[in-house]
Amino acid sequence: MSSIRSYKGITPELGLRVYVDSTAVLVGDIQIGDDSSIWPLVAARGDVNHIHIGKRTNIQDGSVLHVTHKNAANPDGYPLIIGDDVTVGHKAMLHGCTIQDRVLVGMGSIILDGVTVESEVVIGAGSLVPPNKTLPSGYLYMGNPVKQARPLTDEERDFLLKSAENYVQNKDDFLHQVEDI
Ligand SMILES: CC(C)(COP(=O)(O)OP(=O)(O)OC[C@H]1O[C@@H](n2cnc3c(N)ncnc32)[C@H](O)[C@@H]1OP(=O)(O)O)[C@@H](O)C(=O)NCCC(=O)NCCS
Repeated sequence: MSSIRSYKGITPELGLRVYVDSTAVLVGDIQIGDDSSIWPLVAARGDVNHIHIGKRTNIQDGSVLHVTHKNAANPDGYPLIIGDDVTVGHKAMLHGCTIQDRVLVGMGSIILDGVTVESEVVIGAGSLVPPNKTLPSGYLYMGNPVKQARPLTDEERDFLLKSAENYVQNKDDFLHQVEDI
């Protein structure tokens, strides 16, 4: 059985050169842009809404991606939208939120419905972002619930793109060299 499955006739769509580890599970209405990577034990379920992942974005091991259904009070529900050049650390939980471009989501973080994380943000490991919050661009946030800690340095902003580039190289290696035996 493949770990990439259709649901109600909708099958995940992968761009060019996308790496999906064979232990990851992708179900339903999911689109993934070119050169992105999905690492071991990621679970992404596009059942009651859609999941869009941009280009050169990495979703690291054990992360969980899900969405919230549409209803009369909230006609769009909460899809999950992740931009370009995003690094999602190990075991993060992203639920019905929007993550813009060049963001680092620290490992073990939890981001809840209706949140918008603007471009060029770092979220410290183990943070929780409560529902419907917007995290403005250019800052480090951390804690439970997250607080704005300080502006990012120029080096940290540069690192956001570097981190994504590193993972593009890493996934290219995996595309050519990992073997399921
Ligand atoms: C937040 C982070 C970027 C460090 O930022 P920093 O400004 O260099 O922070 P420092 O290490 O100088 O610590 C400053 C304070 O924040 C605290 N702190 C550090 N990381 C924290 C976190 N994730 N959550 C809460 N508090 C944190 C420190 O304990 C310290 O507190 P103190 O002043 O009371 O001693 C880093 O700890 C982190 O969480 N990085 C994410 C890494 C990751 O998950 N990468 C993805 C996988 S590759």
